[in-house]
Amino acid sequence: MVLSAADKTNVKGIFAKIGGQAEDYGAETLARMFATYPQTKTYFPHFDLSPGSAQVKGHGKKVAAALVEAVNNIDDIAGALSKLSDLHAQKLRVDPVNFKLLGQCFLVVVAIRNPAALTPEVHASLDKFLCAVGTVLTAKYR
Ligand code: HEM
Repeated sequence: MVLSAADKTNVKGIFAKIGGQAEDYGAETLARMFATYPQTKTYFPHFDLSPGSAQVKGHGKKVAAALVEAVNNIDDIAGALSKLSDLHAQKLRVDPVNFKLLGQCFLVVVAIRNPAALTPEVHASLDKFLCAVGTVLTAKYR
């Protein structure tokens, strides 16, 4: 998944708007993923998955921070998320299909909170970026 210069600008722009609210975006993304795609809950048997639970909020914060890290290193997402890629591929073994589901939910959250900013071009760039992150996190499956 190759991001053009325009894609990178669009992604950075939307994350600049998200700013300090990234944690909320992460928690809402997870709450939507668990509600809309309940099969994703099977990876979190040890969590209280009700929306707004401390664990969903805490994990949303971690996921959002990883996305911000990827944006801050948009020319080397694989390098920036290398440890996370090891974790998801070697330890968690999350089925790659789930990354698309999480990406969809994040897009919905961005759309609801920033309807004007999510032009078709920005939508396309953000989708590419989320696919790129998913590709990195599922690159090391053996
Ligand atoms: C853990 C990020 C997708 C399941 C984590 C952690 C981060 C993260 C930052 C914490 C790592 C640590 O504590 O060191 C991401 C990102 C994703 C993504 C950026 C995609 C954009 C997924 C998906 C699933 C998943 C799709 C399954 C549906 C898990 C599980 C843990 C985890 C089960 C361990 C939770 C725990 O026990 O604390 N992820 N993740 N992840 N992730 Fe992901």
